[in-house]
Amino acid sequence: MRTILETRELSFSYSEEHKKVLDSININIERGSITAIAGLSGCGKSTLAFCLSGIIPKSILGKLHGIVLIDGKDIKEFSLPNLSQKIGVVFQNVDNQLFLPTTEAEIAFALENLCFSYDDIHRIVANTLGTLGIEHLRHKNPSKLSGGEKHLVAIASVLSLDPEIIILDEALSQLDEENRNLVINAIEMLSKKGKTIVLIDHRVENLIIADSILLMRDGTIIDRIEGGQSHEFLYNRLYKFFLQ
Ligand SMILES: Nc1ncnc2c1ncn2[C@@H]1O[C@H](COP(=O)(O)OP(=O)(O)OP(=O)(O)O)[C@@H](O)[C@H]1O
Ligand SMILES: [Mg+2]
Repeated sequence: MRTILETRELSFSYSEEHKKVLDSININIERGSITAIAGLSGCGKSTLAFCLSGIIPKSILGKLHGIVLIDGKDIKEFSLPNLSQKIGVVFQNVDNQLFLPTTEAEIAFALENLCFSYDDIHRIVANTLGTLGIEHLRHKNPSKLSGGEKHLVAIASVLSLDPEIIILDEALSQLDEENRNLVINAIEMLSKKGKTIVLIDHRVENLIIADSILLMRDGTIIDRIEGGQSHEFLYNRLYKFFLQ
């Protein structure tokens, strides 16, 4: 497998006054893999997701050192439209991501901005709703949906652009069991199709699908667990990590 996403000595603080939230992070993410990132609240997972997706520094400023490379190219060199087809993020706080009056409009939004034809948009919206089993939400207003349903709509809006890399920042945590299974199946299906998935999560039931799990503490990656372990091994390893 070939590296698709890479950081070199990545460090970040939100301002001169704030301490480093990310501290010399070096990671290599292989194309087509599912890489999980787990760590305690506040250790910097969402900030790392912002850097991996270019939101830092394109939208959020701060003190950034080191580089993020996608396919060997510095993320700063990508235009926003190119970047959005390379990498999509489902944010932890989905309310910042959803702003249109219907689910259908949310899914179509980025496609319209990129000037896809009406027929293509219609087809992609229908496919995406089908993949996630959310046809019934098509004409609903996302702001009036439950937390779990909002996450499904946000995932759909990201999938519609068919990005090569998809980052899910705690997107599974608010889903009920049925929807969680739907999304887990969708993630595994996308991975089989060659998509690269970065899954920020802490539940063993979700992490078990990962090819590797990066353990993060105080802004650094302190260890890595190879995938394919038993549920019991993973539970014990993560239990120790979170208690340490
Ligand atoms: N906009 C901001 N300005 C200043 N500090 C911030 C900002 N956003 C996050 N932080 C701080 O950066 C640190 C890392 O936050 P981050 O949200 O990346 O952690 P996290 O691992 O995603 O946490 P959680 O599991 O709770 O989502 C925290 O100390 C947080 O308070
Ligand atoms: Mg977070």
